[in-house]
Amino acid sequence: MKIFIDTANLDEIKEAASLGILDGVTTNPSLMAKVGIKGKNAVIKHYEAICKLVEGDISAEVLSTDYENIIKEGEELSKIHPNIVVKVPMIKDGIKAIRYFYDKGIKTNCTLVFSSGQALLAAKAGATYVSPFIGRLDDVSSDGLQLIRDIALIYNNYCFETEILAASIRHPMHIIECAKMGADVITAPLSAIMALLHHPLTDKGLDIFLKDAEKWK
Ligand code: G3P
Repeated sequence: MKIFIDTANLDEIKEAASLGILDGVTTNPSLMAKVGIKGKNAVIKHYEAICKLVEGDISAEVLSTDYENIIKEGEELSKIHPNIVVKVPMIKDGIKAIRYFYDKGIKTNCTLVFSSGQALLAAKAGATYVSPFIGRLDDVSSDGLQLIRDIALIYNNYCFETEILAASIRHPMHIIECAKMGADVITAPLSAIMALLHHPLTDKGLDIFLKDAEKWK
């Protein structure tokens, strides 16, 4: 399973990358706004900086919602770096654009996916990744993890090559459950990734080992 970090914060990306376990980065317009990125040139520079920090796929989201402009924007984004993956919203023109990008060999991430029907269309269109938002489904009393299970079943039934990129992850148990279900990728905030490290018995055991080692040093 690949681990992506879901942030546009360069310090957080550096910290996750320093662990040696980071396979990529996802961003979205809200995450870019959160780190104060404004204007097209600043956005491009920021993606370039992220691409320098991580050897792996970097999702860059289009802001357009009509076919022609999604294509124009996506082609511009894809020229920033070979690792850029064009993130396209799950809308009618988005699906058409994903098919166009597939034919051109440009990688895509179909975002804002909340149902298995949407995921089926994304795979049919040739998306490289599909991003089901599990946390936001949980937020409205739906079962986000069930959606991952359903998409995995459908994709396995037909050997779709689209990778399931579980997004909107809120805590480490989301990551564990996605791994059990066979999600290809999870994208999570730094806090959820770092939380995987910890167990109180590890801390307690290490403390005991180090104290006992004092006896024979
Ligand atoms: O990758 C999509 C993700 O950023 C959405 O997460 O926490 O805003 O629902 P969240």
